Order: sequence, then C-alpha cells, then structure tokens
Amino acid sequence: MEIRFLGHACFELSAGDARVLVDPFLAPHNPAAPVSAEEVDPTHILITHGHADHVADAVSVAKRTGAHCVAIVEIASWLNAQGLEAVSDPNLGGTVEFDWGWVKLVQAFHTSTLPGSAETPFSAETGVVIGMPSGLVINVGGTTVYHLGDTCLFSDLKLIAERTPVDVALIPIGGHYTMDRHDAVVAAELIGAGTVIPIHYNTFPPIETDAEAFKSDVESKTGSKVVILEPGATHEA
Ligand code: NI
Ligand code: MN
Repeated sequence: MEIRFLGHACFELSAGDARVLVDPFLAPHNPAAPVSAEEVDPTHILITHGHADHVADAVSVAKRTGAHCVAIVEIASWLNAQGLEAVSDPNLGGTVEFDWGWVKLVQAFHTSTLPGSAETPFSAETGVVIGMPSGLVINVGGTTVYHLGDTCLFSDLKLIAERTPVDVALIPIGGHYTMDRHDAVVAAELIGAGTVIPIHYNTFPPIETDAEAFKSDVESKTGSKVVILEPGATHEA
C-alpha cells in the first residue's frame, strides 16, 4: 500500500486500482495541503466525522469523480442530502467490504457537527451536533491502517488493535482538539503498530507541536517506528 499524506488528517491510501481518500480537506481550505480538490482522483472516500477540517472537500470531490463514500449514518445522510448516491452508512462496529479490502468504524472520543452546505462547509450552519465521531480501521490490499480520527486517549485503543492487528497507526498529536503528543505516546504503546505516522498537528497555531520529540519518545518507549511525513510525501507500507 502507498500512503500519501495530504496534510492535517487527510490521506490517500492506494493499492492496485484502489485510491482511498480519507478525510478530504484540501487546498485552499487546508493550509497544509499540497493539492487542491480538483487534483485528486479517488475511487473511494472515507470520513471520520463531520468537522470541516475532515469533510470540507468531500462532496465536491465525490461529485466530480463519482467516488463511493463511507461515513457514519448521520454523515452519510447528509452526503445523500448533498446529492450523492454512492454512500455506505455504517455505524460504530460496522464493517463495509469492497473488492480492495474493507473499512470498520470504531469509537473515537470527540464531538461531531453537521457541516454547512457543500459549497460553504465552514458556514455558520456548522456547529449543529450530529451523531458520533469515529475512527477508521482500513484494510487496503492486505495492509491495515488505523486512522484514529480526532480523539482523546482511551484505553480501548488496545482492544481495537487486539481485534485487528494494525500495520500503520495514524495518530493525532496536536493537542487542543485531540490528544497531545504525550498522550499520543501512550496511544502508540496501546496500539502496538509496526509504524506510527503523526497527524493533526501544525496546521493551525493551536495544534502546533514537536513531531520530532514525539518520534523520539515513541521510539524509546515502544516497539513502534515513527515516520514523519511532510504534506505531499508518501510512505510504502
Ligand atoms: Ni474534529
Ligand atoms: Mn479535526
């Protein structure tokens, strides 16, 4: 699997003909993104929760490409209301299967709000509480990636990784809206992935943090190796 980091919490996971875009948040909405919404061509789009820094470009990309979307049922209904038809609507614990693999929704401790319209995902309409956020355990081409979504630290990260051993964990480290880099070290220990990639940091001032310090803490205290990706960079897993 090729893991391409598009800045913040946005990734493209590719294997064979599958190009799976997670949490579409692209230029100019995402100040860290190396590409715009017009410059991606996913076959599938997966969404962790309704905050604009995770869904801002979901509808426009899905409409242009016809990509099949997966999101928790309340977000899926919103995608349908925006005119998208190829949408799967699992809830927590549910797994959706594709010819390239599967995605399972797991819990995340955070909030979730309804985006504004597709055209104005950051509008004043945002802030309407909508259902629960999720994490995503994603298998593409036989490699398992756990995108934690936005979450604080919780001990069942260990249970989730016991149920499905994780090759690559995408762990938020920015603090303020999610766990910080110190709690993220404990998260890495609980999950026990071969590789950890830090996400959700340095995009905005409140989530600035030291990814190199996180890397050295994880690598001295756990068996995981940390790969720090610059936006636009790829990692082969
Ligand atoms: Ni969020
Ligand atoms: Mn976020």
